[in-house]
This record gives sequence, structure tokens and C-alpha cells, in this order.
Amino acid sequence: MQGRAFGKDIFMSMEQKKPGLAVLGIETSCDETAAAIVRREPDGSGTILSNVVRTQFKEHAPYGGVVPEIAARAHVQMLDSLVRAALEQAHLNFRSLSGVAATAGPGLIGGLLVGLVTAKAIALVHDLPLMAVNHLEGHALTVGLTEAVDPPYLLLLVSGGHSQFVQANAPFHYKKLGGTIDDALGEAFDKVAKMLDLGFPGGPAVERFAKDGNPRRFAFPRPLLGRESPDFSFSGLKTAVRQTAMSLAPLGRKDVRDLCASFQAAAADTVRDRLKAAFRLYDASGLPKRFVVAGGVAANAALRTAMQQECEAAGYSFHAPPPGLCGDNGAMIAWAGAQRLAAGLTDSLEAPARARWPLEELTADMLTPA
Ligand code: KG4
Ligand code: ZN
Repeated sequence: MQGRAFGKDIFMSMEQKKPGLAVLGIETSCDETAAAIVRREPDGSGTILSNVVRTQFKEHAPYGGVVPEIAARAHVQMLDSLVRAALEQAHLNFRSLSGVAATAGPGLIGGLLVGLVTAKAIALVHDLPLMAVNHLEGHALTVGLTEAVDPPYLLLLVSGGHSQFVQANAPFHYKKLGGTIDDALGEAFDKVAKMLDLGFPGGPAVERFAKDGNPRRFAFPRPLLGRESPDFSFSGLKTAVRQTAMSLAPLGRKDVRDLCASFQAAAADTVRDRLKAAFRLYDASGLPKRFVVAGGVAANAALRTAMQQECEAAGYSFHAPPPGLCGDNGAMIAWAGAQRLAAGLTDSLEAPARARWPLEELTADMLTPA
């Protein structure tokens, strides 16, 4: 992708005179409005200087899911003040930044436009490099902010919109190994929460109720168990939970806890089995045995434990961002932007917002000469 040339030494922030890159990151792809500033040191390590997230939970709660029009309006209303707050908390101003990054896709197009246009305006007015960041790459690289872990690694990206295994071959080079043939895992958590009236977003609520429930009370299906390709399917599991809930209605508190625990156990078993399939495929690449899980669902403690155990058994090291950085946030976009800036990968002010933008297209763009 075509970038602009910048005369100043990008590794030296103008005002702070501290070495490294200070990058503002903006995230507006779904229902979180977020702005953050991350510093990338010349040695490749990262520090979060500020990370402001405002969830639109209340705006969407009455509808039981994200309403794109409402999301875009809320981003417009909130973003300017969040960017200001991120700068203030970091004790920086626009002139002391090294670059500005915004999520350009995939996601809800109205929200993406709000964030990307804001970033372009900041880049233009303050003569800063722009990084149009792929949201999935933001999740994929987050772990590098808190641990010295860079590609190559095997990645499982599990969020509200995605469940996929990715072979991160090298920085910015991704190959999808498998995905979901119906619902994403986060979506399944959200739908189970909705049918049990646990509110939105559902993942954290299901995890909370599951803690005190009996995971063996209901024998829910483990979809695609034993299948060779590392793909997922969660709609059958979700339907089984719905049918059981309907047959038990009216549900008592214990029923809800047991349904959540049994659902989560089925999800964990499924992830274990699919992970084994992904290991088999990834092993053939000969790349180092490192596993990274990312995305909102990676905050789930039971699933983390399950994956950690599978990694230990297969001789893989296990890495995950801290739970607070698994869900959508600005720091992950700032960090991906900083990594790209350090590699000289900036974008022009014509960079488009893309509702659909698979990681593999990102790699194809990289391989296409400008
Ligand atoms: O990455 P994210 O914030 O947004 C997307 O890019 O989709 O992921 C949000 C998803 C939601 O489906 C939410 O219910 C799920 O992550 N989630 C969880 C947990 N925390 C968030 N799912 C299971 N357990 C959790 N603790
Ligand atoms: Zn996300």
C-alpha cells in the first residue's frame, strides 16, 4: 500500500524527545469507541501510555445486539473527547505523536468511517503518518505489547465475529488454516446469553453463571469432533442449548447456571479438539511451536485453561494478552500501527474503510509491488 514520505526521524517523537514511536490508535469497528496511545521502543518492546474505552453497552442493550446505525452515531458523539482524554492521560499532544492508526476494517462500515476519517484529519492537520489497521491484525499482534512474542506463531482468533486459526508466518504475513462454517464462538456465547436472558454482551455473563453450575448436567454436542481440518461449527451446540432451555422452562437459577456450565464445557472440549487439528496442520510448516489466542473470547478463564493444557501436552508455548486487552480496545490498534510504522508500512489518505477485509488479503497487499 502506498505511503507518504516523512522527513523527520520517525523514531524520535518531536516534543518529548524520547526515543521510540508514540502512536495514537482509534478503534470504532463495532460497539466500542476507543482511543489509546502506545509507545514502541527501538528494541521492539511496547508500553501503553493511555487506553480509553467507552462501551456502547447501554445503547444496544434494549435490542439484544449491536445496531449499526446507533453504533455509528455513538462513535461520532464520543470519539473526539476520547482522543483528547487519551492524549491528556499520556501527557502528550498531537505534535508529540509519531503517527496515527485507525481500524479500517473489517467491521460495521459506518463506525469504521467515523474512526478512519478522524484519523485522516489528524494525520493531515499534524503532518503525521497514517496507518489504516486491519482489526484482526490488531488482535493478532496484541500479545506483543505485553510479552516479547512476535510471529511466527499459530494464532486462534476468537471474537464476536470471528473464529479462525491463522498461521502467522512472519510479521504482517498470515495464512488462514481454518474457520467457522456458521457462528463465531463469541456469537454463540452471546446467543446463549440472550436465550437465557443474561443481558448483552453475553460472554462474560455466561462465564459468571457457569462458575457455579454443573458442567455435566447436560450432554451438549461437541461439533466437528475428530474432523481433520481445523474448522468450527457452533450453531448445533447453540440449538441444543435452546431446545434444552425450552424443555425446562420456566428456568430456575440453578438451571441457568447448569446450562451455562454445560455449554461452556462443550465449547472448551470443542476448542481442545480443534486445537489438536490445528497443531497437526501447523506442525507441517516446521515453524516454532508457539500458540497465541486473541480476541474477546480469549478473556474466558475456562477456555484459556483448556488451551493452556493442550499446549503443554503438545509441546507448544502458550501466550495470550491479559484479559483486559482481549476485547476491542485502542491500544491494540495503536500497537499494530506502531509495528507497521516501524517497518515503514504507512498508508495514504485515500486508504478505504472495508467492511470485509480477511487477513489473507492483507498479506496479498503486502506481496503486491506498489
Ligand atoms: O474482540 P471483541 O471485543 O469484538 C469483536 O471483534 O467481535 O469480542 C467480543 C466477543 C463477544 O461475543 C463477547 O461475548 C465475547 O467476545 N466475550 C467472551 C468473554 N468476554 C468477551 N466470551 C466468553 N467469555 C468471556 N469472558
Ligand atoms: Zn475485535
